[in-house]
Amino acid sequence: MTTAFCEYRPGLEGIPVTKSSISYVNGEEGILEYRGIRIEELAAKSSFLEIVYLLIWNTLPSEIQLKEFENDILYHRRIKYHIRDMMKCFPGTGHPMDALQTSAAALGLFYSRRALDDPEYIRKAVVRLLAKIPTMIAAFHQMRKGNDPIQPNDDLHYAANFLYMLTERKPHPIAARVFDVSLMLHAEHTVNASTFSAMVTASTLTDPYGVVASAVGTLAGPLHGGANEEVLSMLEEIGSIRNVRPYVEERIARKEKIMGFGHRVYKVKDPRAVILQNLAEQLFQETGNDPYYDIALELEKVVEDKLGAKGIYPNVDFYSGLVYKKLGIPSDLFTPIFTIARAAGWLAHWKEQLATNRIFRPTQVYTGKHDQPYIPIEERT
Ligand code: SDX
Repeated sequence: MTTAFCEYRPGLEGIPVTKSSISYVNGEEGILEYRGIRIEELAAKSSFLEIVYLLIWNTLPSEIQLKEFENDILYHRRIKYHIRDMMKCFPGTGHPMDALQTSAAALGLFYSRRALDDPEYIRKAVVRLLAKIPTMIAAFHQMRKGNDPIQPNDDLHYAANFLYMLTERKPHPIAARVFDVSLMLHAEHTVNASTFSAMVTASTLTDPYGVVASAVGTLAGPLHGGANEEVLSMLEEIGSIRNVRPYVEERIARKEKIMGFGHRVYKVKDPRAVILQNLAEQLFQETGNDPYYDIALELEKVVEDKLGAKGIYPNVDFYSGLVYKKLGIPSDLFTPIFTIARAAGWLAHWKEQLATNRIFRPTQVYTGKHDQPYIPIEERT
């Protein structure tokens, strides 16, 4: 096959790499749908585990199906002591995303049988990964503080249990609901970088633990999921409302990115940022304002003024950190939390990829030389 007719697009911008019915984004109008249902409606009425079911099995579950799924997840929340002991050897100063990537891959040591045409194998892999990822994140967090991991609490549902494992306190119902909504918002987003990574890995027919581990590594970067952690450091660095404009102007002059802004697809404010901002405001009403919120509002205004014409508006990572901060979550856990949610999307794409699989093997535009002589080492300068 010749590449003569193919246009090279950096970052594969605008190039379809699959046919998918999992989610839909309209970047001009700020629309996001999971399986055809608007994100606003899901965020108001659904729950994270119901959305996982919808994304993976392409239907809203009946009451019985949902209960069974929730119970299955609950049953698989604990991690093997081998995994815990392995995690104890991780340096506590390491980033939790690195700990998570290693632990997710390590799950494959225990459940590696690849029966990719067996729906029961697929269901078990989905359940195990979604059940154990929060436990592994919380366990690493406890162990780096010198504590034993806190066991999952069977009385608490998915989101509340994660917050419990971080603090050993049952969270306020509003905190648990806000966290659950945030998980819903981050669950899936068409072919973003980490999902593409998952799809490429899936296309080799490797096991789902390897698929998720490769996607975790991709999500960690500051241009993708890692931006939520960077947003908070940026707000800290700015420090006060009067520093916002000079900060933005300096960054633009130095051609540096402002974290939490811009998106390959959205040319308007990300609909998830709108919902997250509302959630942040609800939390502030309940528990008091956060000084960084006023800085964030001013930042949004100034960036719109300076970069709005280029279609640069807040993305999902802009307000999520403020929500998590208010829930008392340390900032280096923000991206691992994104992982808890996005594992749903990765696994939905894994399943979809398997149904029509062909290994990903794109091509390139070669820019090197040909027919070069081999120079013996002693003659090289
Ligand atoms: C996520 O893809 C997904 O769906 C991702 C995600 C998901 O749910 O999976 O939505 C989650 O990853 C959100 C994005 C988090 N990242 C950040 O907040 C980091 C800051 N944003 C950017 O680096 C950037 O906007 C990206 C990475 C999000 C998008 O990169 P693109 O599409 O490659 O855009 P680009 O870097 O080529 O920028 C295009 C133009 C440039 O200006 P010009 O050279 O054309 O004049 O827009 C400017 C950029 O300089 N620009 C910004 C900017 N983002 C783009 N300028 C200042 N600050 C920014 N944040």
